[in-house]
Amino acid sequence: MSAAGSSPAASSSTKRLEGKVALVTGGATGIGEAIVRLFREHGAKVCIADIQDEAGQRLRDALGDQDVMFVHCDVTVEEDVSAAVDAAAERFGALDVMVNNAGITGNKVTDIRNVDFAEVRKVFDINVHGVFLGMKHAARVMIPQKRGSIVSLASVASAIGGMGPHGYTASKHAVVGLTKSVAGELGRHGVRVNCVSPYAVPTALSMPHLPQGARAGDALKDFLAFVGGEANLKGVDVMPKDVAEAVLYLASDEARYVSALNLMVDGGFTAVNHNLKAFED
Ligand SMILES: NC(=O)c1ccc[n+]([C@@H]2O[C@H](COP(=O)([O-])OP(=O)(O)OC[C@H]3O[C@@H](n4cnc5c(N)ncnc54)[C@H](O)[C@@H]3O)[C@@H](O)[C@H]2O)c1
Repeated sequence: MSAAGSSPAASSSTKRLEGKVALVTGGATGIGEAIVRLFREHGAKVCIADIQDEAGQRLRDALGDQDVMFVHCDVTVEEDVSAAVDAAAERFGALDVMVNNAGITGNKVTDIRNVDFAEVRKVFDINVHGVFLGMKHAARVMIPQKRGSIVSLASVASAIGGMGPHGYTASKHAVVGLTKSVAGELGRHGVRVNCVSPYAVPTALSMPHLPQGARAGDALKDFLAFVGGEANLKGVDVMPKDVAEAVLYLASDEARYVSALNLMVDGGFTAVNHNLKAFED
């Protein structure tokens, strides 16, 4: 999925991550790729950590400079997460920003009696335990630095039910819990911990969940039409770059006093009662 967006490229005077080092898990594709590209535009040195080696190396080569690296990293394996953090810190000299982005939804199952429990465990392993490991090993480097920003990807499913499978919804609520808990501990070390909760944006994770009835032939158009129809805020085709912009804010010094926040990037979706229809004629 293209991470392209319409906002202008950062000029040297508007680079908001100049001199910072960032690691992005699940950075090879989707929202993670958009974050990697935007962070590079804003002057960060970036480590892409993903299980998709080919896609990760392709992105590194496409960015084509010395300030981006790729490491194979499965976020469910502590040694991988630890090694990725160390590789980024050793190559670039620090770790200022940790983005825990890797995540999966699990299959859509409409009857809990048919849910495969092994899959729920897998969703938790990646979405919750993977985020925990990212926080743990980022903290190992950030506490002695006395600075750092940890940003994790949650979801609108962190705030309401019915936006994804049970395991996914529970896992994203847990990301908010981890964010608050770890922000509570790391505040005294000058380390901020936040999460970002997007509404649906088109990626390999979300597009397969489009209902059959909404599929007319052009996958991207159909997806944008469907989620646009369900959205509260109309007139915006939400793309991965819109999520990356929120992560950029939390990563940057502009958010230097923001911690323990779950930043909704949902056009008001989770704050509105969709059944009330109070504003309809
Ligand atoms: N796309 C959406 O609509 C949406 C909405 C809300 C939240 N999110 C969240 O945003 C994050 C990114 O989602 P996306 O849509 O870009 O998904 P995606 O499937 O497009 O990309 C996820 C990336 O994570 C990597 N990954 C998967 N398992 C991994 C593991 N064990 N270790 C390391 N990397 C792994 C994949 O290889 C892939 O590159 C997820 O946490 C997701 O839950 C997405």
